[in-house]
Amino acid sequence: MVAARVPLIAGNWKMNLDHLQAIAFVQKLAWTLDEAKHDTAASEVAVFPPFTDLRSVQTLVEAEKFSIAYGAQDVSTHESGAFTGEISGSFLASLACSYVLVGHSERRQFHGETNDVVGAKVRAALSFGLVPILCVGETADDLEEFGASAVPVAQVKASLAGISADAEVVIAYEPVWAIGSGKAATEEQAELVCGALRETLRENFGSEFADRTRILYGGSVKASNIAAFMRQSNIDGALVGGASLDVAEFASIVRFYKHVI
Ligand code: PGA
Repeated sequence: MVAARVPLIAGNWKMNLDHLQAIAFVQKLAWTLDEAKHDTAASEVAVFPPFTDLRSVQTLVEAEKFSIAYGAQDVSTHESGAFTGEISGSFLASLACSYVLVGHSERRQFHGETNDVVGAKVRAALSFGLVPILCVGETADDLEEFGASAVPVAQVKASLAGISADAEVVIAYEPVWAIGSGKAATEEQAELVCGALRETLRENFGSEFADRTRILYGGSVKASNIAAFMRQSNIDGALVGGASLDVAEFASIVRFYKHVI
């Protein structure tokens, strides 16, 4: 992590917590962080609830002026029209979402999202003023066949093609084998891949873009391993799944700067 980049701790709730549970959770998270005197300049926190929770989360965050950002877990490539079940980036923007996850491995695996589709979602998000969090990562087979960096680097190249060097995006490196497995990558391996991703950004969009773009690690992040990741110079935060559903655990991850030596 480099001082100029504000670390981002993002909680991907996946298909968990309905809108009532979301309100209770966000309220408790805000109180917990407040009580612990969380320094909002030291790390930014964002939650990614299901679509049906977003309006409730917005209402609460705005009413209470919580320093908690939020976003959606997916976005349509289209702006509007006959696309049953899809959600436009314009709808997310009007709920004051800051971010949207794009190309999560579960979307790639269960919904057949290709790099082309993911790239179209990145461009759709940007066109509505949302910051896409582009998720990339290799499977266990990819790791064996191509090593750790090749697949995520190719995914980043393919999905960011054609965007402006002025754009704000976040990259989340999530080895598929580490997601939900309880077996996180080592900090050395995560740093190696995040470093390779930053070089890819530098080659394709220049140094200014590469130096300001946040690259997160995701995959079995917990309060007990976050510090090791955050000590790496190319890791600027985490995308957290399972551990983001426990308020105390997630708040402790958000406050990693208290346990990074
Ligand atoms: P996990 O999920 O933290 O439960 O491994 C991460 C993710 O899928 O974003």
